[in-house]
Amino acid sequence: MERILNWGLLSTAKINRALIKPLNASKRTRLLAVASRNISSAEAYAREWKIPRAHGSYEALLNDPEIDVIYNSLPNHLHAEWTIKALRAGKHVLCEKPFAVSLKEVDAMIAASKETGKVLAEAFMYRHHEQTIKVKEIVDSGELGTLQLIKGAFSFKLEREGNYRWMTEMGGGSIWDVGCYPISYARTIVGAEPVDVFGWQVTGEGGSDEVFVGQMRFKNDIHMQFDSSFRCPHRSYLEIVGSKGVLKISNPFKPGKTNTVQLIQEDKEKTINIRGGELYMGEVDDMCDAVLQGKSPRVSLADSRNNTAVILALLESAKSGKLVIV
Ligand SMILES: NC(=O)c1ccc[n+]([C@@H]2O[C@H](COP(=O)([O-])OP(=O)(O)OC[C@H]3O[C@@H](n4cnc5c(N)ncnc54)[C@H](OP(=O)(O)O)[C@@H]3O)[C@@H](O)[C@H]2O)c1
Repeated sequence: MERILNWGLLSTAKINRALIKPLNASKRTRLLAVASRNISSAEAYAREWKIPRAHGSYEALLNDPEIDVIYNSLPNHLHAEWTIKALRAGKHVLCEKPFAVSLKEVDAMIAASKETGKVLAEAFMYRHHEQTIKVKEIVDSGELGTLQLIKGAFSFKLEREGNYRWMTEMGGGSIWDVGCYPISYARTIVGAEPVDVFGWQVTGEGGSDEVFVGQMRFKNDIHMQFDSSFRCPHRSYLEIVGSKGVLKISNPFKPGKTNTVQLIQEDKEKTINIRGGELYMGEVDDMCDAVLQGKSPRVSLADSRNNTAVILALLESAKSGKLVIV
């Protein structure tokens, strides 16, 4: 029998709702506690979601000796600080995407994980889903021929007034929030890092990008183009183009239980049906495998570092108007 891992939610963030169901469903996890900056909001949240313990500060959660794993769902500018504190308090950490907003922070997070021997992984839930795994298999099988182009988008109308996503100093911006998905997906499909990138951005009052349009060039003449936005209606798609075929993924980043992707070869279109599990169960299971069985997390720390480096290079390009070598 494997040990049951006690999890604690670091904040009452909206995204927690996605984790609560798998944490309650898994036989290897118990959602034991939630922390908030304010005890009354922690208590109300704990009552609402039937979480046994409420802590009135983040420190109190890290000092709770029964907690094994922390789910860091804080705004992006706090990921590094609280992940490092949690690791040093002896906890394993599943940290929300984007991992952090500078390479200095990412390197400090990786160093803290190495020093403490505690597992650290970025919560890129789509990476664990059956659809993503199948898409990668199709591309790697050579069915599309030689990889040529990837195009993708992730946009939505951000209507949360005062939210950290609007503010540069809190790690806001559409590229950090949703552009990180097509960037990560393309890097995963190509299985390499881009050589150079170019980006354009439209910034808002908070200083962060509200629209980002980017390009990445990989070796062997593989190109990727994407956009992310807080100003456009919800769009989410990816198209992978090879010399012999095209794969169209209509729901790449938040796939569900039933999914279809279109494979187009010589004007013939085939629908591939892919059954998937609960989207957020993958990252919970992956974390349990890493902590309980010593497996390496699917999203490696090097991968998270490289995704951050590419986003920073794209932002630098958008500011300078120049091509940036990654
Ligand atoms: N993987 C996914 O599908 C997915 C989806 C959405 C978001 N995310 C990621 O999850 C993280 C949280 O996003 P969210 O939209 O859920 O966040 P949110 O609802 O805005 O909540 C963030 C929480 O952080 C805490 N916090 C601490 N300091 C804060 C500050 N200075 N300002 C505002 N909040 C502060 C607050 O909790 P207390 O008041 O309880 O302390 C707040 O509830 C982000 O990193 C985001 O990229 C991932």
